[in-house]
Amino acid sequence: MKKLIDLISDEIRAAFGAAGYDTSYGQTAVSNRPDLCQFQCNGALAAAKAYKKAPIMIANDVLANIKNKEMFGMIEAVMPGFINIKVSEKYLNDYLVKMYEDERLGVPKADPPKKIVIDYGGPNVAKPLHVGHLRSAVIGESIKRILRFEGNDVVGDAHLGDWGLQIGLIITELKERKPDLPYFDEGFEGEYPDEAPFTMSELEDIYPAANGKSKEDEAFKEAARHATFELQNGRRGYRALWKHIMEVSVADLVKNYEKLNVSFDVWGKESDAQPYISDMVQGMKDGGFAHISDGALVVDVKEESDTKEMPPCMILKSDGATLYNTTDLATIVERVEKYNPDYFVYLADVRQSLYFEQVFRCARKTGLVKPDVKMTHLGFGTMNGKDGKAFKTRTGGVMRLEYLINDVTEEVKRKMSDRDMSEDEIEKIAAMVGLAAIKYGDLSNQPTKDYIFDIDRFTSFEGNTGPYILYTMVRIKSILARCSETDKNGTISDQYEIGAEEGELRLKASGFIDAVLLAGEDLAPNKLCQYIYELSNALNAFYHANHILTEENEKKKASWIALLILTLRILEKGIGLLGFEAPDRM
Ligand code: ARG
Repeated sequence: MKKLIDLISDEIRAAFGAAGYDTSYGQTAVSNRPDLCQFQCNGALAAAKAYKKAPIMIANDVLANIKNKEMFGMIEAVMPGFINIKVSEKYLNDYLVKMYEDERLGVPKADPPKKIVIDYGGPNVAKPLHVGHLRSAVIGESIKRILRFEGNDVVGDAHLGDWGLQIGLIITELKERKPDLPYFDEGFEGEYPDEAPFTMSELEDIYPAANGKSKEDEAFKEAARHATFELQNGRRGYRALWKHIMEVSVADLVKNYEKLNVSFDVWGKESDAQPYISDMVQGMKDGGFAHISDGALVVDVKEESDTKEMPPCMILKSDGATLYNTTDLATIVERVEKYNPDYFVYLADVRQSLYFEQVFRCARKTGLVKPDVKMTHLGFGTMNGKDGKAFKTRTGGVMRLEYLINDVTEEVKRKMSDRDMSEDEIEKIAAMVGLAAIKYGDLSNQPTKDYIFDIDRFTSFEGNTGPYILYTMVRIKSILARCSETDKNGTISDQYEIGAEEGELRLKASGFIDAVLLAGEDLAPNKLCQYIYELSNALNAFYHANHILTEENEKKKASWIALLILTLRILEKGIGLLGFEAPDRM
């Protein structure tokens, strides 16, 4: 279905045309004065200059040329030349009925669908997931779901960090702890054990220990660098260790992401791109794009219009070693070969924006992607504690994601402790509500901005929070549970007097398509959150203004219930796109 606002715009455009003005002036928007009207067109003001005519005269000409009068409940020209619009109850009703009848709630499918790769999550193996990875996973998952729901062909790729210094650090530390393992014996020619020589919790101890040492002990750091180099150059024992590290940590990552309701289609790794590097580098040299600067191989990516500093994109270090850039560029080559995407989306800390700008420019300039391929880095800000600094544990350490989820779930359980429910049930529901609190708390912010993780506020059942949205849905579910089947089989109707709160709910419900498309276009789940919040408010106001279950007018009651069902379906779809679910009670 077309967005309601587009249907209205089309009509106003046609009227501008019929009155002899350029149709482009008919662009109509949602009103910013909802007390006066629902939609408004300010095109007559802009047209006034071009046609040297008073705007109000133009607006009146347009009104005289409206063909589809049925569409409007009110349309008027007001000084100095605004066109204020309310859609008619009948038109809106028909629109809602169509949404109701459509499994997709009217959201059109992308035509043609785009092939999109979303690079998100970006965990590093052997390091526990910490809250810094939360945003990438939560925002990326939502964007993946939105773009996919729009009918695009989307691949969500975890892009594991598995090839950097952290592996060399672990190998070096492990060698100190268990020097007798066959992996360190260069003369060893037998089969390495199937079982990893460490557990996940050991691994989690090894990495920070090694990282700490490397900061104080230059020799240790050098050894780690060398181990990384040897790994990358195929040393057999190190490859075998790396495999073990991968198995152990990926299993743990999968488990953790599952708790977050995040799943990847592909568990791509930085190391997957390594085979593409040499041809890519050769191509950059042959094409005359790469040159040596201070010993390193670089590609200039500065453009004349740049106002900010734009350093060249480094491809190889002076010792020939590859970098984060090299891997990302080679991954582009790999993805073009595997998926040939129309659109690349990267989720990574906003502090990496210059980096991605360089990489994208380099990829375009050197022809790794075709000119019409879209590449976007969606940078996200930091999740801070109440003190405004990066979120930490009470003792000041890096907060592990698991613990954060537990803390939030406990808080929800505390809030629900007076419920008449079994412990099992509370446990289950608290997990759902807790996840909604965390995800909505994050997603409702503009991705690029930092935000304060406030457990009290995020878990509150009131205000702009995940639990409030769930609460609204549970409210609808509980009304529906008390309705007869006949009640539930009615349709949305306009054959009775529609009150203000109901009118507002109807109008909000009609905006779902717009909200989804906007969130997809702008990669902005926060816009979907805002919509869902407003719809929930409208629903609750409607609920408080009417006695739904005791309504005697059958037609009205059935229509109200259909409206509740529609709202619930929209909310269900909406939170599904955000990446969480609602319980039946809470
Ligand atoms: N592993 C990286 C980190 O922890 C994030 C990866 C983002 N994606 C990418 N293609 N560079 O910062």
